[in-house]
Amino acid sequence: MPGHPGFHSNARAQWLYGHGVLPEYRGRGIGRKLIDATLAEARRIGLKRIGLSAFADNARAIALYDSFGFKHEGRLRDYALIDGKYADFIMMSLVFRLDVKGDGGAKAA
Ligand SMILES: CC(C)(COP(=O)(O)OP(=O)(O)OC[C@H]1O[C@@H](n2cnc3c(N)ncnc32)[C@H](O)[C@@H]1OP(=O)(O)O)[C@@H](O)C(=O)NCCC(=O)NCCS
Repeated sequence: MPGHPGFHSNARAQWLYGHGVLPEYRGRGIGRKLIDATLAEARRIGLKRIGLSAFADNARAIALYDSFGFKHEGRLRDYALIDGKYADFIMMSLVFRLDVKGDGGAKAA
């Protein structure tokens, strides 16, 4: 398998980590399919909240998560020292809100 997503979980709020695709397979839609499948499963099992994080300069990953409706929740400044430069970390989340009419539909927020 060229890529994988991972979940770290409690009952309803889940943390998505380790989402990655082998370099030679990137840019072929695999990362998008992995998130798509992960979110479908998240909805199926009734999750309420999915959080994730990405380094602020990871434009590809952030664009991908933005396109699924993940919202930016915060920025951890100088989170890590990489190759002699401090890097910020962006916290993001997708929240599934139950339709107030109770028809079982869930909307991403
Ligand atoms: C981030 C990652 C998982 C994306 O996987 P991928 O298979 O390359 O992504 P896809 O081909 O499905 O493209 C998904 C989106 O990424 C963005 N993208 C793809 N190639 C890009 C590029 N060269 N530059 C900028 N954005 C790009 C686009 O928004 C694209 O959306 P589209 O489907 O509308 O074109 C992959 O690049 C990766 O493993 N990176 C290293 C590990 C990593 O950064 N993981 C995320 C940690 S939070």
